[in-house]
Formats: sequence, structure tokens, C-alpha cells
Amino acid sequence: MQTILGIDIGGSGVKGALINIKTGHLIGSRLKIATPQVSSPSNLVSVIEDLVKHFKWRGTIGCTFPGVIVNQIIKTSANLDKSCIGTNLSKLIKEATACPTWTLNDADAAAHAELSFGSAQNFKGSGLMITIGTGLGSALFFNKTLMPNTELGHLIMDGKKAEMIASAAAIVRESLSWTDWTKRLNDYLTYVHSLFWPELIILGGGVSRDFDQYKHFLDIPARIIPAKFFNHAGIIGAALSAHKAMRTL
Ligand code: BGC
Repeated sequence: MQTILGIDIGGSGVKGALINIKTGHLIGSRLKIATPQVSSPSNLVSVIEDLVKHFKWRGTIGCTFPGVIVNQIIKTSANLDKSCIGTNLSKLIKEATACPTWTLNDADAAAHAELSFGSAQNFKGSGLMITIGTGLGSALFFNKTLMPNTELGHLIMDGKKAEMIASAAAIVRESLSWTDWTKRLNDYLTYVHSLFWPELIILGGGVSRDFDQYKHFLDIPARIIPAKFFNHAGIIGAALSAHKAMRTL
């Protein structure tokens, strides 16, 4: 069995689990540690060291980051500390833990998991995954090929970034009801759909568990389904992506 430690860095927590990359299953349980208040690279790396110690891990790590990653360099950091921009998180993690690491955008990782073993496993065509959490993440794909770093949560709607209006953080910040929030999500998905015309839209993040609560409010000319792995998709996709990247390096 091949195992990789998957780590998903989010706005509220840094989650880790050992992943069987042949099946996409979690081996044992997941550990979540609160994201440090100052989410600087060194503070994030020290949380990752704690995860590595907890899992007694000495192999490859796949790690997500909620921002654009190009050639392993963090290019944007909308919801975490700006000092992350310009850093090579993979390199810092390897220096601290001796574990070879691959970092990628969190929504891209989630889509990788869903395309490999999840709700889009047998899907062919143009698709879009939207992860709903502190921000809105996006991953655009055609068949099994991902176009990375699409950042569609930053589209402007009503003069504001879409993720300020329709993320899960907006539900909490503005105490929105499911109906009010879903109207916003529907407007957002309608807009994104009009730009890319995906045949399938996968909704991920914690609120994908509550899909039955709001699916009847969504009216988009595409098939809309929840992520199979809910908010584990990032951890699983991080591990799968690291496996693929390390093989092809
Ligand atoms: C970031 C994206 C990320 C999304 C979800 C956005 O603020 O810019 O890169 O995928 O949040 O975490």
C-alpha cells in the first residue's frame, strides 16, 4: 500500500490525514489543528511539524494552500498572512521535517480527489468544482485535466469579490439563512456558468454536507452535485497530487 500524508491548510484549520493513494481512503482518523492567528510561513510550518509528529510520518507530504501556486511558489494569499506570498512552502516543510513535499491550490486538490475517486470519477466533459469555506475556491477541468489556479472566487459581483458575498464565512459573518445564502450562491453560479458553461458543477467544502438543505433553491442549467469527500477532498487530493507530481519530477 502506498501512503502519503495529506495536509489541507485552510482559514480556520490545518487538517492532516494519512491517505492510501491507491483508493483515496483515509487511513485512521484526521487531525485538525487551528490555523495560527498569524498565519505566517514559519507558524504554518510549525503546525505542519506537529502533524508530522502526530502521525509519526517520514515520507512524502502533499499540502494545499488557499492561494495561487506557480512552480511551488505562493503567488497570492487572500485569507492568510500576506507574508506567505513569494515563499516556497514545499521547501520550508522539507527543511523542517525532512519529508519531500508538494504544494498546490486547495480547490485544485479537492477537484483532483473528486475526479480520481469521488463524485466525478466517471465524468467526461467540462466541469467546475467550487469549494465553499472561508473563501470560494474554484477548479476548472475538462475530462480529467485540470486548469490550475482559476481563482473564480475573486470574480466581482455587485462591486464586491464573490467570496465576500457567497462563501461559508459570509453565512457566519452576516448570520444568513439558507434561503438568503443560496440566492447569493445561485447568482454566483449563474454568473460563472455564463462564462464557462460547465456541464457539471461540484460543490465542495463543509457546506457540501448540507447540500439537501439548499439544493432545491439552485437553478442553474448544469448538473450540480455535492463533493463525495465533503471537506476531506482537499487532504485526499493533496496526497494524490503529490504522488503524481513526485512521479513525474
Ligand atoms: C483563494 C483561493 C482558494 C479559495 C478557497 C480564495 O480566497 O484565493 O486560492 O482556493 O480561497 O480557499
